[in-house]
Amino acid sequence: MLAIENILVRYGSITALHDISIKVQTGELVALIGANGAGKTTTLTTVAGNLKPVTGDIQFENTSIASLSPEQIIRKGIAIVPEGREIFASLTVEENLKLGAYIRRDRSEFKRDLDETVTMFPILGERIHQQGGTLSGGEQQQLAVARALMSHPKLLMMDEPSLGLAPALVDQIFELIVKLHDSGMTILLVEQNVERTLDIVKRAYLLKNGRVEAEGAPEVIRKHVDIESVYLGSKVN
Ligand SMILES: Nc1ncnc2c1ncn2[C@@H]1O[C@H](COP(=O)(O)OP(=O)(O)OP(=O)(O)O)[C@@H](O)[C@H]1O
Ligand SMILES: [Mg+2]
Repeated sequence: MLAIENILVRYGSITALHDISIKVQTGELVALIGANGAGKTTTLTTVAGNLKPVTGDIQFENTSIASLSPEQIIRKGIAIVPEGREIFASLTVEENLKLGAYIRRDRSEFKRDLDETVTMFPILGERIHQQGGTLSGGEQQQLAVARALMSHPKLLMMDEPSLGLAPALVDQIFELIVKLHDSGMTILLVEQNVERTLDIVKRAYLLKNGRVEAEGAPEVIRKHVDIESVYLGSKVN
């Protein structure tokens, strides 16, 4: 479904991704792990169209999306749950969800999607007219995921969904990811919670300094010598 092919991405004079190639097949749950600054967020941001690769290509369903705008990419069926959630604090839960559905103009469709969302995330139903900023961290994370799902994506990218959540809520988020994957969603997951992540995926990529350091089954990644430092690195910060 997604093929990131040898992309090089820069912020001005800083090269953040040197030569990244990543594949995600339809229905797969693939993880992207690595220490702070490895290039995980930059990879997702580039797929979402907010950064442009200097060289290399990004193919989605066998066509290049590397030069498309972020909105065109959403319309192709790629949604992102951004790092830090980025929900709108002063808008209600319903308004936040509406923003996720903006590419779907039909009002009756929105109503139906909203009903589905509330069924999947009952707590959001209870809080539907509450301002986003008044939700707890775990509820805000659910809202960020629900908002991304409102565009009916074929590929869902999530950037550190468990970050900053209490252990019980981390469990909830991982359960949600497994549930979405079981329901057929294709997911590219960025996580620093390495052990938990390797427990739920069949394939992962380990990034280091803007390059793919290792890729393959969880056993392969686990065995990799750097795993401990990656894990500790994430705990220190
Ligand atoms: N807006 C920016 N301007 C300049 N450099 C940036 C910018 N954003 C990221 N970088 C640099 O690009 C590199 C990759 O950053 P990125 O945010 O992709 O890492 P990450 O793997 O997501 O890290 P973290 O685990 O801390 O979220 C880092 O060296 C970072 O300093
Ligand atoms: Mg990041």
